[in-house]
Amino acid sequence: MMNQASGLSQSAQARSSVMNYFDYTRAKILIVDDHPLSRMTAADLLLLNNYEVLEADSSLFAIDYILEQKPDLVLLDLMMPRLDGFEICKLLKQDERTCHIPVIFMTVADEREYRRKGIEVGGDDFLIKPLDRFELLTRVKSLINQKRLNEGLDQTEQVLFSIAKAVESRSSESGSSCARISALAQRFGEYLQFSQEAIDNLVFAAHLHDIGTVAIPDAVLLKKGELTPEERELIHQHVLIGEKICQPLRNRRGVLPIIRHHHERWDGSGYPDSLAGNEIPQLAQIFQILDIYDALTSERPHKKAYTPAQALEIITEETAKGWRNPYIVEEFTAFISQIQQEKTGCSVYLPQ
Ligand SMILES: [Fe+2]
Repeated sequence: MMNQASGLSQSAQARSSVMNYFDYTRAKILIVDDHPLSRMTAADLLLLNNYEVLEADSSLFAIDYILEQKPDLVLLDLMMPRLDGFEICKLLKQDERTCHIPVIFMTVADEREYRRKGIEVGGDDFLIKPLDRFELLTRVKSLINQKRLNEGLDQTEQVLFSIAKAVESRSSESGSSCARISALAQRFGEYLQFSQEAIDNLVFAAHLHDIGTVAIPDAVLLKKGELTPEERELIHQHVLIGEKICQPLRNRRGVLPIIRHHHERWDGSGYPDSLAGNEIPQLAQIFQILDIYDALTSERPHKKAYTPAQALEIITEETAKGWRNPYIVEEFTAFISQIQQEKTGCSVYLPQ
């Protein structure tokens, strides 16, 4: 049975009329889950944040319903009778009418095998049940932003974004670091009161910064052991190759310096041009901190995810070595602390 979400609790209904911090065109989200309680939990959280919510309690008719309703995002339970979440996602991503709709899987267990299979069928992200409010809203907002960004792209940009997505899924198990960096870039840019153009350049860079790794062989890019000097030099080439690939971006010239210089270091020990201090374009200095913070706080095959406080401590240590701009790191630390306070109600330990 499909319906407009009606399971909103009374308190949620009362609060939804006064809470409205999602300030652009109302996005439509479909929840496909055979468990009424799970659907109701997700629907309540989304309705409170001014999303339009649709529900489907059976996977059998979900595809037809998606074609009819054209949601901006689908929250998909993995384990359902008959068609499971993987099968529905695969069908959606194979159909040109629905392949652009982001899909978030909901699952009770964070199994690596699920993630691998989810990426294989084109899923965009994972959430673990019971749903965490902050995680749900962050992922949903980030993917809807990304979908709207994609809708506004010209043909060249669309091709480059598709290549970048394929490149990312080749080297990342989570498959969503670009979306996370993009959301972080948007918020940090707003925090710094940057112009919309500067924020857009950071967001574009989040998706395109490592596109040049397309030319790096698997044997080097995915190598587990230590790299030889020749292999390291090859990896360093990704910034130059990326800049070249993105040259045709006529309306986004501001993203090119970020792609080229996102591995420079404040003390001049980075690459490709060994620029130092404010010779490094400011947006590239900012972007590299977002990139590093995301890498530190995400799980990778060789490491666990660090907490925000641990990640800030590592970035602060690197700043003391002379690698990062101390003023930007100070702003970033205050920004993350603010986010953590919003999320948990507690402030994050601030490195001195
Ligand atoms: Fe890079």
